[in-house]
Amino acid sequence: MLFPLIKDLLHLPAESQNLTIRGWVKTKRELKNRTFVEVNDGSSPAGIQCIFDRGRSGPPGLSPSAERTLETLATGSSVAIQGRLVASPGSGQAVELAAYAIERLGDAPPETYPLQKKRHSLEFLREIAHLRARTGVFAAVARVRSRLAFGVHRFFQEQGFHYIHTPIITGKDAEGAGALFQVTTLDLKALAQAGKAPDYGRDFFGKPAYLTVSGQLEAETYAAALSRVYTFGPTFRAEHSNTTRHLAEFWMIEPEIAFADLADNIQLAEAFLKYLCTLALRDCAEDLAFIEKRGTIENRDARIETGSTASLQKILDSRFVRMSYTDAVAALEKEAARFTFKPFWGGDLQSEHEKFLTENIVGGPVIVIDYPKDIKAFYMKLNDDEKTVRAMDVLVPRLGEIIGGSQREEDYRRLENRMRSLGMPVEDYAWYLDLRRYGTVPHVGFGMGFERLIQYITGMVNIRDVIPYPRVAGQAEF
Ligand code: 4AD
Ligand code: MG
Repeated sequence: MLFPLIKDLLHLPAESQNLTIRGWVKTKRELKNRTFVEVNDGSSPAGIQCIFDRGRSGPPGLSPSAERTLETLATGSSVAIQGRLVASPGSGQAVELAAYAIERLGDAPPETYPLQKKRHSLEFLREIAHLRARTGVFAAVARVRSRLAFGVHRFFQEQGFHYIHTPIITGKDAEGAGALFQVTTLDLKALAQAGKAPDYGRDFFGKPAYLTVSGQLEAETYAAALSRVYTFGPTFRAEHSNTTRHLAEFWMIEPEIAFADLADNIQLAEAFLKYLCTLALRDCAEDLAFIEKRGTIENRDARIETGSTASLQKILDSRFVRMSYTDAVAALEKEAARFTFKPFWGGDLQSEHEKFLTENIVGGPVIVIDYPKDIKAFYMKLNDDEKTVRAMDVLVPRLGEIIGGSQREEDYRRLENRMRSLGMPVEDYAWYLDLRRYGTVPHVGFGMGFERLIQYITGMVNIRDVIPYPRVAGQAEF
C-alpha cells in the first residue's frame, strides 16, 4: 500500500499514531521558539500545519541536523516530516502535526524558485506551466478536471454506452471545415531545397493524413453496431482564433446513439450537463470554493468568474429553454445595435450573439435547434423545409456554446446528394455511406469540449488555464 495522503490524515482522529507526511513546503513561519511549516501534497487544497518546538534539549527534541534543515527551509522544498497528529488549537484546521523529525528531499532556492509566497498573475503562470500545478488554483483545477473526466465515463457507462477509441490520425475532415493539421514523414525541407512538390503517394500512409478534428464519423460506425457509444479523446483544430474559448488541441466527448432523434439528443445533453454540475458541486466543493475565493476575494482576479458555483446550482434548477435558430435570430435582430456583428438569418451565431441570447434574452441555458444547412456540417439531417438541418447547440451563460450536435442524415441518397453538392470526395467516404446502405437507422449525437466544461465549472475565464499545456496558434511550449 502507498502511504496515506494529507487529505486523508486531516480526517483522522487527533491523538492518533506517529505519522510521516510528505509534500512541498507552502510557508514557514517562526513564532517564539516554534516553527510552523505548512505542507501540501496536492491531494486537496488544504495542507497540514507542522509545528516544531525549537531549541528543546533531550527527547523528543529535534536533532541538530533537523534544526539546520529548518533554518534554511524554503517555500517549494520537498520534505518528509514525522510527528504526532494532535488536535489543533488554531482555527481553520481540526488537526496538526506535532513534528519531531524532518528530512529535506529537495531544496528550492528562493533566489531562483519563481513561486514565492506572493500571488502571481495567471498570465505569468502560463509561462511557467511546468510549475503552475504547484499553485493552489491550478492544483484545484487539475483535481476538478480529473474528477469530471471520471464523471463523464460514469454517466455514459451507467446508461449502457460503450467507450470507443476512435483514431487520432485520419485521412478525412470530419467536420468539413478545413481546419486540419497535416501529419507527414516526408522530408519537407529537402523537398523544398530540391524545388520539388511533396508526393504524398510516397508519404507514410501513401496519401495525405491529418490529426482528427472529431471522432464522430468513426463513432457513428460503432453506434450502428453497439447502439450507444461515446468517445473521449484529444481533437485538433488548426483554427487561428485567438480567443478565451478556443484551443488547437482539446479533449472532446462525443456520444452517438442509434434509434434516437433530436428530442432524445437534447434530453441526453441536458441530463449530461446537469449530472456533471451535480458531481462537481458534490465532489469538488472544496476545490471550487478555493478557486472562487482566490479569484474574487483575495485577488480580485478578473480572470476568474464570480459566483460560478452559484451558477452551477442555477443550471440544476432550470429547464433548458428550447428555441429555433429562426426565433433566436429574430430576437437578436431586435437588439442589433449592440453587436459588432449584425445578426441575420443565414449567418453563424457569433460568440457575442450566443452570450446575449443565453444571458439576457433567456437568462439561463438555451438549446438552439434547426440551423440553416449552409452553416452546418454535411452529415446533419435535412428538415422538411429543405433549408434547415436538425442541429442543436447548447449555450450557457458566461461561455456561449458548450455542446454542438445533431440528428444525422440516415438516408443514403440524401446524404450522398448533399456531399456531392458540397464538392466532397464522395469515394473517400464510401465507408461512411455504407452505414446508410446497410441497416441504416435514425441516429444522433453531440460533442462537448471538455475544456469548455471545466471553464464553466471552475469559472476560469481563459481556456488556457484549464488544460495543463495549452496549444494555440504560435504556442506549443513544454
Ligand atoms: O461544434 P463542434 O465543432 O461539433 C463537432 O465536432 C461534432 N462532430 C460533434 C458531434 O456531433 N459529435 O464541436 C463540439 C464542441 C463545441 O461545442 C465546443 O464545446 C468544443 O467542441 N470545441 C472546442 N473547444 C475548444 N477549442 C476549440 N477550438 C473547439 N472547437 C469546438
Ligand atoms: Mg459547433
